Amino acid sequence: MEETTVLKEMKILLKRIALAGAVIAIGAQLFRPDRVNPDSDPALSIRRDPMVTPEILGLLDRSCFDCHTHETRWPWYSTLTPVNYLTVRDVEEGRKHLNLSNWMSQSPTRRASALERMADEITGGSMPLAPYVLMHAEAKWTDAEKQAFLDWAYATQDSLMRPNE
Ligand code: HEC
Repeated sequence: MEETTVLKEMKILLKRIALAGAVIAIGAQLFRPDRVNPDSDPALSIRRDPMVTPEILGLLDRSCFDCHTHETRWPWYSTLTPVNYLTVRDVEEGRKHLNLSNWMSQSPTRRASALERMADEITGGSMPLAPYVLMHAEAKWTDAEKQAFLDWAYATQDSLMRPNE
C-alpha cells in the first residue's frame, strides 16, 4: 500500500471515531438523573433560627445551601450528562450529612453538634467541596469570613448547650 493511501485511511478512521464519540455524547444526554428539591416546611429552615445572624446566613447561603438544603440552585453544568450524575450525588450526600432545611426540627444538642462539625469542616478547609469552588469562585470564604463564622459557631454552640446562663 502506498503511504498516501494509509494516511487517507487513517483520516477516515479518525473521522469515524470522532463521529461515534459525538453520537455517544449526544445520546448520553437522554439519560439524566432527577434533580429534586423536596418540599419542606419553611418554618424548619435555618433561615428561621433567631441565633443565626444575617451575616452568617449570607455566608451559608452563598457557599453551603446548594448542597445542604432543599433550596439547591442547580447550575447549568448540572444539565450535562455525565457531570449531572456527580452533581446530584454530591447534593444527595450533602443533604444526608447536614440538612439545613430541617434545622429547626433538630434538638438544641444536635444543632450544637452540627455547628461543631461545620466549624471542623471550615477549619480543615474541606467545605465547600473543591470541585464546587472551582465552578463557583464566590463560594470561597476569606480568612476574615472563616474567622467570623468560627467565632459565631463556637459562641452559639455554647449557648445551645447552656441555655439558662
Ligand atoms: C458541592 C456540594 C457541597 C457544598 C457546596 C458544601 N458541601 Fe458540605 N458536604 C457535601 C457532601 C457530599 C458531604 C458528605 C461527604 C463528605 O463529608 O465529604 C458533605 C458533608 C458536610 C458535613 C458533614 C461532615 C460530617 O461530619 O459528617 C458538614 C458539617 C458540611 N458538609 C458542611 C458544609 C459547609 C459549612 C459548607 C459551606 C461552607 C458546605 N458543607 C458546602 C457537599 C457539599
